[in-house]
Amino acid sequence: MLFEQEVNKVGYLSRSVPANVNLVDAILALKKEKNATILAHYYVSEDIQKIADHIGDSYALAKISKEINTKMIVFCGVHFMAETAKILNPTAKVLIPDLHAGCSLADATPLDAFVAFKKEHPDAVVVSYINCSAEIKAESDYICTSSNAVEVVNAIPKDKKIIFAPDKNLGLYVQKVTGRELLLWDGACIVHVNISQDKLHQLQIDNPNAVLIAHPECLPGILDKASFIGSTKALIEFVTVSEHNEFIVATEAGILYKMKQAVPHKKIIPAPALESNSCACSECPYMKMNSLEKIYNALYYEVPEITIPSSVHERALRALNNMLTVS
Ligand code: 13P
Ligand code: SF4
Repeated sequence: MLFEQEVNKVGYLSRSVPANVNLVDAILALKKEKNATILAHYYVSEDIQKIADHIGDSYALAKISKEINTKMIVFCGVHFMAETAKILNPTAKVLIPDLHAGCSLADATPLDAFVAFKKEHPDAVVVSYINCSAEIKAESDYICTSSNAVEVVNAIPKDKKIIFAPDKNLGLYVQKVTGRELLLWDGACIVHVNISQDKLHQLQIDNPNAVLIAHPECLPGILDKASFIGSTKALIEFVTVSEHNEFIVATEAGILYKMKQAVPHKKIIPAPALESNSCACSECPYMKMNSLEKIYNALYYEVPEITIPSSVHERALRALNNMLTVS
């Protein structure tokens, strides 16, 4: 209650950490003292990936969340991921460094409009990408991630209509691979649609030996040209085992840290963003809202905390478990 107003307004507790405190050491000490696990998505900055207990894609982090038996989880990613962890592990106190770390896909799916869309197609099975709010998960039959969307759709009987939300680009990709016609919601990831197809084309001309690999949230024009399409984890695994030595990677640039660590001898080039920026890449502004200072304050003050209304929890858990049963 004491911190609630401030956290809701700014997204986190803005307390300066004493100058003599080494943030990394202090976070690791607090983590031990509070019996906490730090989870991080591949898109958060390198300094955070370095202190995380587990780094993964959305699917791996959801599965790990379920198995964690520490008292607390600090989720360094975005809001829907922390919500997923809370739904799967309701007894853990789930903290997020910045409550306002959202996602354009989750924002693209207001509950009322989604319920109205469902009413237009009462016979359809609802498959929602994990990048959505807990309320949308509760309105879904299955959740999927970028690593198992094809598998989940294939598990639904062929005579059933399917609503696929909220990522239209992932939906178009799944439609192509499965041959199923999907009722698509019109959402997009601002980071993946921000990759410039013209600059990418030029980059391919300049680097003729580089293999283009892409995340399925990219626009169809990029996916059509890619030699491999997969989740963040699958992209890292691909460059690791591939016989090739040069890659253009069409996804968020945070992934480069793990990729370069896995294959330091290979050339990894991030796909360029539409606008000219310092990294010549596309970055997720929400993922980059995480910082060591916010993690320290989250652990110290135990806010912002993720809570899920019980009416939402049960139905969202069912949809998540349906995914975990399929893959
Ligand atoms: P994955 O972690 O499933 O590859 O998804 C990427 C993403 O955009 C997460 O928000
Ligand atoms: Fe959402 Fe895109 Fe950021 Fe992932 S990269 S959190 S899909 S805005």
